[in-house]
Amino acid sequence: MKLNHIGIAVRDLEESRKLYRDVLGMEVGEPEELPERKLRVCFVDAGPVAVELLFPTDPDSAVGKFLASRGPGIHHLCYEVDDIQEKLSDLKAKGLRLLDEKPRPGAHGKLVAFVHPASVGGVLTELCQDA
Ligand code: CO
Repeated sequence: MKLNHIGIAVRDLEESRKLYRDVLGMEVGEPEELPERKLRVCFVDAGPVAVELLFPTDPDSAVGKFLASRGPGIHHLCYEVDDIQEKLSDLKAKGLRLLDEKPRPGAHGKLVAFVHPASVGGVLTELCQDA
């Protein structure tokens, strides 16, 4: 499990991109649409670990509801694994509550799956694997 990125929910993607690029001086990628998750995301280069800016395109989406109840801020941690299906089966066998039983397409063409925060000490946890 290698930390791959930290997901941050934002209310305004362009303002956030300006903050990271112009104020913090970081390298900010182009926005990417994830229509099945009702998200527009943007990755910020932060060394071996990236920052993923998450903007909900629909207030009824998971991130939209997160923003409404918790406000902007850290949303999830994502760990890269070699075999996501095997890891999901392993975690399920150990009693963790999965939000995705099967991996699905995520940003950058990776396969991703989420584990419920209640099973990981209050931290929404994403697994990803290069497709
Ligand atoms: Co993510």
